[in-house]
Amino acid sequence: MKILDGKSTSASVKAMIKKQANSLIEVGIKPALAVILVGENKASKTYVNAKEKACKECDIASIIHRLPEQTKQEELLALINVLNIDDSVDAILVQLPLPKHIDEKIVLESIKDSKDVDGFHALNVGKLSSGLDGFVPCTPLGVKVMLDEYGIDVSGLNAVVVGRSNIVGKPMANLLLNANATVTIAHSHTKNLSEICKNADLIVAAIGKPKFITADMVRDKAVVVDVGINRLDDGSLCGDVDYENVSKKASFITPVPGGVGPMTIAMLLSNTIKSATNRAKKLGLK
Ligand code: GUN
Repeated sequence: MKILDGKSTSASVKAMIKKQANSLIEVGIKPALAVILVGENKASKTYVNAKEKACKECDIASIIHRLPEQTKQEELLALINVLNIDDSVDAILVQLPLPKHIDEKIVLESIKDSKDVDGFHALNVGKLSSGLDGFVPCTPLGVKVMLDEYGIDVSGLNAVVVGRSNIVGKPMANLLLNANATVTIAHSHTKNLSEICKNADLIVAAIGKPKFITADMVRDKAVVVDVGINRLDDGSLCGDVDYENVSKKASFITPVPGGVGPMTIAMLLSNTIKSATNRAKKLGLK
């Protein structure tokens, strides 16, 4: 069994991003990511702090807007509009989840698609599904880049994505399909989940239930990617996969933490550089 090490893979990706950021800075383009955090969600605060730190490490400017829980939807939309038309801002990310009084769909659609580094805007969703170049959501992109880095070619593999969220499951399935995998999307209504998983050469678990994928659901030598991050009662973190037992069968497996998580942030930086490069090209600087 080999570990898919997201920490070391993301470190080499980030080293490359820092070089690209500096080559943009040399031509007068400082790559810039704007992040909007509304409210007091603890996990969201941690993620936003991690994004800020990663930007700093890679010489990308981060502009963090921390707004109170009571922020009105119109106020949020007005801020997004300001960032949309600000040419010095390459990338806009609204941290999810948003407070209940705000309509997430309206907010995500209001972000200019050319700055939508989360890849959640319908135009980018459509581009991914049509195999066109656009922004791909960071977590599934991080999974794909990590598989590539370890030389895992998914072409022809039976891939099972467990989870059908817009953030992970659906874009993950599209990425794998675009790379010629045979893809099944399983979810909470799926019958015979265990049988379906047992048939998989590659399982991507994005369910949000601790240790949901057990060893009896996994075929010998399968590749197992765990997108879950769950906090247990004792305060420890665990994924959606029963790592201790599944790792004895898998050919490759991601640990939690240190697997998919660090790759997600690296892909956010990568998408920001992609947008800044587009800005430089438009200005004839690249
Ligand atoms: N909340 C959890 N994951 C994500 C993500 O990938 N992007 C944003 N914007 N919010 C999230």
